[in-house]
Amino acid sequence: MTNQTSGAISIPLESVLKPIGQARGLPNQAYVDADFLALEREAVIGKTWAGIGFASDLVKPGYVKPINFLGLPLVVTRTREDQIQVFHNVCSHRGRLLVEEEREVGSLLRCPYHSWSYDLSGNLRSTPHIGGVDNHSAEGFDCADHGLKPVAHAVWMDIIFVNLSGDAGSFEDYIAPLTERWSAFLGNNGLSHLRSSSAQSKLTVEVQSNWKLAVENYCESYHLPFIHPDLNRYSRLEDHYDIMIEDRFGGQGSWAYNLSDDAGVSLPTFPEWPEDRLKEAEYVSFYPNVLLGLQADHSFVMIIEPKSESRSIEHLRVYYVGDEALNSHYEGCRSSVLESWRVVFQEDVSAVEGMQQGRQSPGYLGGVFSPVMDNPTHHFHKWVANKLKVA
Ligand code: FES
Ligand SMILES: [Fe+2]
Repeated sequence: MTNQTSGAISIPLESVLKPIGQARGLPNQAYVDADFLALEREAVIGKTWAGIGFASDLVKPGYVKPINFLGLPLVVTRTREDQIQVFHNVCSHRGRLLVEEEREVGSLLRCPYHSWSYDLSGNLRSTPHIGGVDNHSAEGFDCADHGLKPVAHAVWMDIIFVNLSGDAGSFEDYIAPLTERWSAFLGNNGLSHLRSSSAQSKLTVEVQSNWKLAVENYCESYHLPFIHPDLNRYSRLEDHYDIMIEDRFGGQGSWAYNLSDDAGVSLPTFPEWPEDRLKEAEYVSFYPNVLLGLQADHSFVMIIEPKSESRSIEHLRVYYVGDEALNSHYEGCRSSVLESWRVVFQEDVSAVEGMQQGRQSPGYLGGVFSPVMDNPTHHFHKWVANKLKVA
């Protein structure tokens, strides 16, 4: 098959899938066309595991949060048993949007229209007057048939992932190559030490660009000397290496990470991180839309929320190591970690938005890749192309 064709969409996939020296990138249509984003929702983002939010935002059992993802109304709940669940955010009766704002609801989600109620595991629990005034049941109507429609989901590293198509297979199998790789730093249980504080942990960046450009920019270190001159002073281009894991994760690593330091105070590090590898750090894109950063003394997650073909919101959360790291003693360290990432991600905005603007040009036909510096970027393009190919 040469091209992905869907209505007016025609993407030359074969040239994207060629070896990097001969390959072209995805053409402009993949970045500027609203219909293409709709196709991606079905064939790319919806067919795999995509990040939609953070479990820690569901602050306690009984809490619910609506999330509109690519136009789909979803609702995340934290049940009484402390389990995260994800459902389509629509009432089974007449289809009213069920939850409009995040809040604590206790044990039941009540539809504002006719007051049907669901528990936070999605079971329909009450249907007032369904059989007539004061008759709350109806012949032939079984609540068990009309619960909320669940969405396949998983929680890993505080990220709530969904698989909209429901046929992506097990999340545990999908993530295994990355957890195996990172067990060299984290041991078997390192992620259980991650903590986020209400301050010094969050950042939101809006970019006027297609979501893929944020991923592509994250995949490469090539731009480091030109876009991040301060970062490049200690973590130089030559201190980086490419990461490509199976068909699904790509990015870069550094051998020159500087542990946090604020007036001689350093953040706690992961207990099993090898002493001789403290300067190593890895920056991995979990395709399609989750960017991960792992250092010995903190990690971060950025979820890229596609708002339209040319606008995305980046949601960053920083996680520190162990309860102690959230003490006031480390406040200066946490602030400097968050500030350093704020600067880096802000520096990336002009690059990403400039690429979006460039994709309005008929003089650009997907571009070419450096056969040495752009391998993870090409790896991501191939991932997108392969998803489109089987669509
Ligand atoms: S639409 Fe929800 S109860 Fe009627
Ligand atoms: Fe960058």
